[in-house]
Amino acid sequence: MLKIIFIFLFSLGLSACDDYDSPKPQHAVASAHPIATQAGIDILNQGGNAFDAAVAVSATLAVVEPYSSGMGGGGFWLLHLANDQSDVMIDGREVAPQKAHRDMYLDQSGNVIPKLSIDGPLSAGIPGQPAALAHISKKYGKLSLQEVLAPAIKAAQQGFKVSKYYQTMAGFRLQALQASPAAAEIFLEDNKVPAIGYTIKQPDLANTLIALAEQGAAGFYKGKVAGALVTGTQTAGGIWSLKDLADYKIATRKPIVGQFGEFKVTSVAPPSSGGIALVTMLNILEDRKWSTLGLVDRKHLIIESMRRAYRDRAMYLGDSDFVSVPVARLTSKAYAKQLAVDIDMSKMTPSNRLPGLDVEAKGNHTTHFSIIDRLGNRVAATLSVNYPFGSCFVPPGTGVLLNDEMDDFSAKPGKPNAYGLVGAKANEIQPGKRMLSSMSPTFIESDDKLAILGTPGGSRIITMVLHSILNVVDGKSAVEVVTAPRFHHQYLPDEVQYEEGSFSAEEANVLVLRGHRLRNLKSGYGNMQLVIVDKKTKQTTAASDPRGEGLAIVE
Ligand code: DON
Repeated sequence: MLKIIFIFLFSLGLSACDDYDSPKPQHAVASAHPIATQAGIDILNQGGNAFDAAVAVSATLAVVEPYSSGMGGGGFWLLHLANDQSDVMIDGREVAPQKAHRDMYLDQSGNVIPKLSIDGPLSAGIPGQPAALAHISKKYGKLSLQEVLAPAIKAAQQGFKVSKYYQTMAGFRLQALQASPAAAEIFLEDNKVPAIGYTIKQPDLANTLIALAEQGAAGFYKGKVAGALVTGTQTAGGIWSLKDLADYKIATRKPIVGQFGEFKVTSVAPPSSGGIALVTMLNILEDRKWSTLGLVDRKHLIIESMRRAYRDRAMYLGDSDFVSVPVARLTSKAYAKQLAVDIDMSKMTPSNRLPGLDVEAKGNHTTHFSIIDRLGNRVAATLSVNYPFGSCFVPPGTGVLLNDEMDDFSAKPGKPNAYGLVGAKANEIQPGKRMLSSMSPTFIESDDKLAILGTPGGSRIITMVLHSILNVVDGKSAVEVVTAPRFHHQYLPDEVQYEEGSFSAEEANVLVLRGHRLRNLKSGYGNMQLVIVDKKTKQTTAASDPRGEGLAIVE
């Protein structure tokens, strides 16, 4: 019966699952692809814990959602360990290769060379996902790495079917894919966007995954696979070395923690900007008593909090292993009070009136999944290759599509990247440094409720997570939260980007009168994957964003 409800909702473009009769703890997986969600559920049913399932889902997404994340990319895995109630962030973000340098994407006159940080091997950071998966499996999992990688290996060998969404992504990146013969061979059909239903098989990627399963991280970062990755990138003009791969290390970090009313908010630390920006925005909203305000005032306040948090993102945030990031100050209630002082409820604050830097978003690739097991272990993970299909470059023989995450660095102070985000010194390129990210896998928890959430969406990730937190706090259901329309402000450009339905006609009028520039995006954005547990009734609900083609299962 459950499955039937499920299939019905899914065919409506919504996937959600509620089991109202079950008093015992349930497990749940919400991810951006049905094959990956099923892989996670299968691993849980084989006796694996949430961390085993997270490795299985990550690796399977790398196969079936190649435009979003992959073994040639990286991400952040936020883990909650039920046995001691601790939270830990596994940072598998890519790093700049040793030969990278501050001005590598500038021409002789100091101008940014278009596409150099987006297409081809020069745009790729050293991947972190394989090392992160090996680490999570070994340190936190119950099953072997071979067992948890098995579903991904099978999906790579047997293939998956091209969907409409795949077609859109491949169409968007067609020229860049055509420029890499190995990528074109795998991801295109006769060098063109494949037909719906065409089967994408990835035997080379299956072999790379087998090397990882058998040898752990060394199967990817050393030996045959590493050799092919380096030869392939160098032959095509890239700068990777064997040492870059051998030196790659994941980092284990303390998450960013905030308090919003009765909810504890746990999210990711630098090199993500997500946790800090979220806590800043929530602190401003709390300081100005957002829940007592009428709807249009709430929206005005949310926009003003976004503007201020993104200004700080541009000014202060970068890899905290390289630059000093004032985390305690930026996440303090006192700082939020200071930021909130000049918020005028009758008028917007022009971004250029905030002390800051002069400078000028897009897309739905990158991926997120949320998992809970029956013991209460949880994972929120956001993974990426950055742009759709990353750099579109595959080193021959590896099946590994490389990321183009180098574009998340600030190529030049004040120059917007592919998501319109600006940055400065804190996020300039340095060898071995991690590029600033917006990926924001997050937990929120009160005495009554907990939620596991996150989404792709480039610069809009953090504001989507903010909307979802506010909606969960407001008591909305999982389906309502992932469906709710979203709006976004990122300091620069000074405009409110919104999905249809975000504002009533009257609200839009009021906001315009207060000086806001509203820009209808004319399309949906984001792919939120959410699990909510009602701690009192022990009911678990989960939902996958109707804008994507994902699936949520609770059982
Ligand atoms: O780490 C980041 O913030 C970006 N590379 C994420 C890119 C992304 O979400 C693309 N999806 N729209």
